[in-house]
Amino acid sequence: DRVLVLNGPNLRRLGTREPDVYGSTTFDDLVALCRDTGRRLDLHVEVRQTDDEAELVRWVHEAADERLPIVLNPAAFTHYSYALRDALAQRTAPLVEVHISNPAAREEFRHTSVVAGVATGTIAGFGMMSYVLALQAVAEILAEQAA
Ligand code: DQA
Repeated sequence: DRVLVLNGPNLRRLGTREPDVYGSTTFDDLVALCRDTGRRLDLHVEVRQTDDEAELVRWVHEAADERLPIVLNPAAFTHYSYALRDALAQRTAPLVEVHISNPAAREEFRHTSVVAGVATGTIAGFGMMSYVLALQAVAEILAEQAA
């Protein structure tokens, strides 16, 4: 089964970006972690990153058309992108929202997610492990659906 792991703005800069918040793992390390996790779970994982809201919306449309599950870190779009939310509302497969940090424990503006209400569920605060847990959740849901 194919799964898209989509990442929003600034996440390509992982490793150098605010390491006290996001850790020292680089984006390339994250890609490798997701692929390895996919192999272990028998999922074909495709990891993408964009700083562009329009591109992210297009990828979400592609996922809806192809019935692909999504693991999504919407980054700052989480907090204000109704365009992203409306795209995600068209989903035809599971959607797991992930965050590296725990937004609920940070600034007030991070406490709102406009994405959460259209997601299957949210995993936040476990560092890069958030992605591993999200892929496990997708694998479990797909196995349940196939049973
Ligand atoms: C983030 C949390 C967001 O508030 C922030 O804008 C990000 C990263 C996270 O993974 O912890 O860019 O989504």
